[in-house]
Amino acid sequence: MIQTLATVVLNEMIAPDYGRVRLSCDAGFNRARPGQFVMLGFPDAVDPLLRRPFSIHRLIAGENGAAQIELLYKVVGKATRRLSQLPAGERLSLLGPLGRGFQVPAGTRRLYCVAGGFGVAPFVFLAEWLQRQASPPAELQVFLGGRGRADLLCISDFERLGIPVRLTTDDGSCGEQCRVTDPFAEAIEQRPPDLVLACGPQAMLACVLGIVRAHRVPCQVSVEAMMACGMGACLGCAVADRRDSARYLHACVDGPVFDAEAIELG
Ligand code: FES
Repeated sequence: MIQTLATVVLNEMIAPDYGRVRLSCDAGFNRARPGQFVMLGFPDAVDPLLRRPFSIHRLIAGENGAAQIELLYKVVGKATRRLSQLPAGERLSLLGPLGRGFQVPAGTRRLYCVAGGFGVAPFVFLAEWLQRQASPPAELQVFLGGRGRADLLCISDFERLGIPVRLTTDDGSCGEQCRVTDPFAEAIEQRPPDLVLACGPQAMLACVLGIVRAHRVPCQVSVEAMMACGMGACLGCAVADRRDSARYLHACVDGPVFDAEAIELG
């Protein structure tokens, strides 16, 4: 884990409420794996004081072994509004890479990724990372859903990588008008994958868990949780342990990616 100052290289809005920031950071971030996250803060800030967690959206090798990472953010409050206004050259406090990421075992041939809205963030990193591996899965399919067209992010990233994306929206403004878990459930029935990875709102993850357990398909889910420290100290990111009802796991150190059999969601 590295604690450092990172420099904003690029910061742009990619949809009405969503932005993407690229940070030049310590070469140690080249060790980051898809599904891991960082804690990001303003170096001199009193308000907002705490660092905030962000999934690593992309890892880009810089010159001379340097690393650049990209983070997606949704403008929802004071910290993300301030982040959205940062120009290139500004410095941010960065802690990471943190947590446990996705594990795609060697020999995985068909992989499904299910993303709800902003939950798509780690899957661009995953897709780019897999394409750099010696034997990536022969088939990767992304299922991406949101409330409306503006919530469907990163479609062009998957197109650039040649990865098919099945789109759904609640209001029918893009793709099929249904929940993202509907075409996913159809696909798992017709062409069962070797592995499912999911990231998104808790209700979507709970639905994915029901489907994969019914079909006995291995699955890992990335859980969104309130995180104040990111290091297992504040105990604020508890997730129920499915194997022991008296015990809690912690998203920042045991996750944020968990095996489907390890956790219970609402
Ligand atoms: Fe503090 Fe997980 S964020 S224990």
